[in-house]
Formats: sequence, C-alpha cells, structure tokens
Amino acid sequence: MAISYKDLGLVNTKELFEKAVAGGYAIPAYNFNNLEQMQAILLACVETKSPVILQVSSGARKYANATLLRNMARGAVEYVKELGYEIPVVLHLDHGDTFELCKDCIDNGFSSVMIDGSHHSYEENVALTKKVVEYAHAHGVTVEGELGVLAGVEDDVVAEESTYTRPEEVEDFVKRTGVDSLAISIGTSHGAHKFTPEQCTKNEDGILIPPPLQFEILEEIEKRIPGFPIVLHGSSSVPQDQVAIINANGGALKAAVGIPEEQLRKAAKSAVCKINIDSDGRLAMTAAIRKTFNENPGEFDPRKYLGPARESLKELYMHKNENVLGSAQKA
Ligand code: G3H
Ligand code: 13P
Ligand code: ZN
Repeated sequence: MAISYKDLGLVNTKELFEKAVAGGYAIPAYNFNNLEQMQAILLACVETKSPVILQVSSGARKYANATLLRNMARGAVEYVKELGYEIPVVLHLDHGDTFELCKDCIDNGFSSVMIDGSHHSYEENVALTKKVVEYAHAHGVTVEGELGVLAGVEDDVVAEESTYTRPEEVEDFVKRTGVDSLAISIGTSHGAHKFTPEQCTKNEDGILIPPPLQFEILEEIEKRIPGFPIVLHGSSSVPQDQVAIINANGGALKAAVGIPEEQLRKAAKSAVCKINIDSDGRLAMTAAIRKTFNENPGEFDPRKYLGPARESLKELYMHKNENVLGSAQKA
C-alpha cells in the first residue's frame, strides 16, 4: 500500500523554494545513509532554525533499506518536535535515474524527487522528466530536473567531463516538463577531487585555488526563467583542515579541492535555492573517526568513534547554514 509523505509529517519543496528565492538564501540538501548522519543534520538544522532537505541517493536507499528509511523519516519529524523547534523537513530522492525508482520513492513517503535525465539526449530527458512530473504532481510531490552534465561520480554514472547547461534550452525544458526546480551545470562537480592541480592556480600558501564558477551562465539562465528555483549539485568545499586531519591520521587524500565557500554564498543569493552537499560530510566523519582510532587504537565501541563523528558533522552543517547558505533563522 502506498504511503504519502503527508502521513509522515514531511513537506514538499514548493513553498520553501519560493521563500528562498525571494529571500536570497538556499535550502541545505544534505545526503544521509545512516542514523548518525541523520541525527547530525537534524540537530544542526533545529539549532540554527533552518529548513532542511534530507537527501537520499539510490545507493543510500539500497544501503539503508526503503522501509527503514521511510520510518526514519517519520521518526525525523517526531524527533524535530521533541527537540523543541519545528522546522520543515523534506525527504528527497537524489539523482533518480528511472521513472520506476521515482515512483517507488513517491509511493514510499518521499516528498520530493530528482529525475536526472541529464545523461540522455535532450528529447529523451524531456520525455522522462515529464512522465515523472505527471505522476509526482498527482501525489503532491515536487520534482527536480537537470540540464547539463556535472563531472564526477553519481552512483553508477561517471562523467569524465562536465558540459555546462545551455541557457537557450532552459525555458523550453521547464515549460514542456512542468518541473518545479532545475539543477544546472556551471562548474561544480561531484566528489572531493573536483579539479586537477593543473586546472588550479596556487596562492602564496601553496593552497590550490580552483577556477571560478560560470556565473555568466547562471545570470543568462535567470534572465530566461526569472525567479525559477535553481539547484546546485556538487557543492562541497572540501575543507582543507579536515583533509589535513585525515592525512595526519593515516589517510592518503591527494589534491582534494572543492568549491570556495564565497562562491556558494554568492550563488545562494541568486535564484539558486537548493545546494547539495555530501562529500564535506564524508570528510568530516572520516577525519573524526581516523583521529579517534589513531589516538586510541584500543577503542572498539562504535559509539565512541561515531559519536565524535556525529558532533563534527553537526558543527559542519551549522557552519554551512549560518555562513554559506544563509538558511539559518529562516524556518
Ligand atoms: O551525487 C552523489 C551523492 O554524493 C550521492 O553519492 O551515490 O555514493 O550515495 P552516492
Ligand atoms: P558533493 O560531492 O560536492 O558533496 O555533491 C553532492 C551532490 O551533488 C549530491 O547530489
Ligand atoms: Zn548531485
């Protein structure tokens, strides 16, 4: 039997995006796969009074189990109430690649889905996205589409090179598909290695500085679909202090470079109203866990290493909401 997100106390993205576009901030979309990540996201967003998008990839769904996830989402809403300040919570499918997967999520309590047809031809992307929108809207669920390809790994899809979004396509795509938001490609990419050292310049401290985002493309898109909600994937900043902790405690992360926070802050002030962050959370967790093990090799109680990881994640998300996305105090 299908379960509606409304029965779980979740909301879709419609009103959240309208307010974010008008208010010049972005709603955080943080990926989670397990309990500690979900707790950290909710604790940080309640403490900063930020709306939140709990984001689940198809890999995460396989990892955590669809039934458990649905009940975790129900629990998330109750937990937020228990924490004493009610924030809107969205449960979103990240990078859905088929109609069947999107339908299954909609039937299992998701309030928002992404159909990522960006690897198909333009016409195939339009047809697939439209089909998902028709089913989703009949159930009150909002849909994110994508135009342009980001470099990096998304589940099983690996793109070597990014293809920027073509502004001349966005109006037609939005009109023909009926999507509620659009993910675009303007120079972000997935993972912790977004740029090769050759693509970067070095500052006086030897830190690699990546090429800037393509803000002219974003401006051109905004001119063609004014006020339409825009989404940025691949928006981790790859904090160098976390990379240093990982490497100082037995890790081997080379040339890890992300998107500078000032650029994301600038994007969040535009029609960009959803910013996706996963890798930074992975780095923060890994750094905390490696440090604990290095300092106390005899530790074997998962709470003793997952606990500090959760705390570090919470701090990271609070910082993003307050200083990067501008979503703090907006719930
Ligand atoms: O865009 C990809 C997200 O970071 C999810 O990654 O497919 O490994 O869960 P994943
Ligand atoms: P990062 O790998 O930059 O965190 O991007 C995550 C993302 O786009 C999830 O959809
Ligand atoms: Zn993504």
